[in-house]
Amino acid sequence: MKALSKIAAGVSPSATLAVSALAKKMKAEGKDVIGFGAGEPDFATPDRISYAGVRAICDGKTRYTPAAGMIELRQAICDRAKADYGLEYEPTQAVVASGAKHMVYIALAALVDPGDEVIVPAPYWVSYYEMVRLFGGVPVVVNVSEEQGFQLTPEQLEHAITDKTKAIILNNPSNPTGAVYPKEALKAVADVCVKHDLYIISDEIYDKLVYDGVPFTSVAALSDEIKAHTILINGVSKTYAMTGWRIGYSLSPALVAKAMTNYLSHSTGAPGTMCQCAAIEALSGPQDEAEQMRQVFEQRRDLIVRRINAMPGVSCLKPSGAFYVMMNLEQILGKQIDGQVIGSGDDFAKLLLEKSLVAVVPGSGFGAPNFVRLSYAISTENIETGMDRLEAFLKQLQ
Ligand SMILES: Cc1ncc(COP(=O)(O)O)c(C=O)c1O
Repeated sequence: MKALSKIAAGVSPSATLAVSALAKKMKAEGKDVIGFGAGEPDFATPDRISYAGVRAICDGKTRYTPAAGMIELRQAICDRAKADYGLEYEPTQAVVASGAKHMVYIALAALVDPGDEVIVPAPYWVSYYEMVRLFGGVPVVVNVSEEQGFQLTPEQLEHAITDKTKAIILNNPSNPTGAVYPKEALKAVADVCVKHDLYIISDEIYDKLVYDGVPFTSVAALSDEIKAHTILINGVSKTYAMTGWRIGYSLSPALVAKAMTNYLSHSTGAPGTMCQCAAIEALSGPQDEAEQMRQVFEQRRDLIVRRINAMPGVSCLKPSGAFYVMMNLEQILGKQIDGQVIGSGDDFAKLLLEKSLVAVVPGSGFGAPNFVRLSYAISTENIETGMDRLEAFLKQLQ
């Protein structure tokens, strides 16, 4: 057989999916695994949204829609952005894809030529790095430390820019760190992008999951110039517990929207019509279920952060958004359990799963090898049990 394409052969599988697959396999074998790997809310999609999808099927909305999505959905996306952030977009600037993940991919398809550099602050969401490579682009990783609150500074960005830099991918609030940029810090970074005429791909999928009353700032709302450089990406997966419906979207300058639409029209086309109808209901209906879920996440965050920071040898920042914490392992690296050395987050995740039946995601896939990520999109009881097991595991380290 002839070789696979060089690009396909060089792409790594998603680290987050690999760990949750292993945890699922162990569960299927009857093992009582507590999984902190989840990247999705554990809530059901609110009924009124599900019924909108069912109604669409029963009403015969089962045919193709335009490649960029139903005009009603694109209008609902614009209306949401206006209501939330005062952003003005025309429906033709809204493009729908099969999830925010797909939308990031399509944005990169529209922007990246082979050899173009795309800046990716680390810790980063696993897929960004590989997606840039899928288009022959060069991901330029800028390490952003825990001490700086996992937030990129304008100086770091300036330093990473070359004449090949095309874009930056910002993820605010961040997966995996949960960091949320304050308005001024975000503006300082975005101003550097405008100065160097870079595209800002801003993945704001967790915009509704922010805590402590911290206001969320959408980068496109900072100035008209910034907006003109921004491809805003969002979706219904996290806010409305709709991960399986596969609806993501973007708001961008018209030229970029057109290129992305062309790309969609020759690849996936638009997502399922009934899913688009459900998304219209999600975005235009009452927003109180989303707020209730947010409040539950905030309580869980408080619990997990308190528990981790009370344990010996590990620590985490208190994140202001999303539903993840990054647990710092630096103090325990080099220690052993049953004669096996913990040299990295990968070792830690493997041993914790094997010995204590707790699944966490190693930070290596996020560009942060001395950390592991824990999702708190699981029940309070499971958080407590998992934390008890983690504590017992840590006490065995020598
Ligand atoms: C930062 C980030 N962007 C995008 C996605 C994917 O969202 P969707 O389900 O809309 O594809 C995720 C999911 O984990 C994510 O964490």
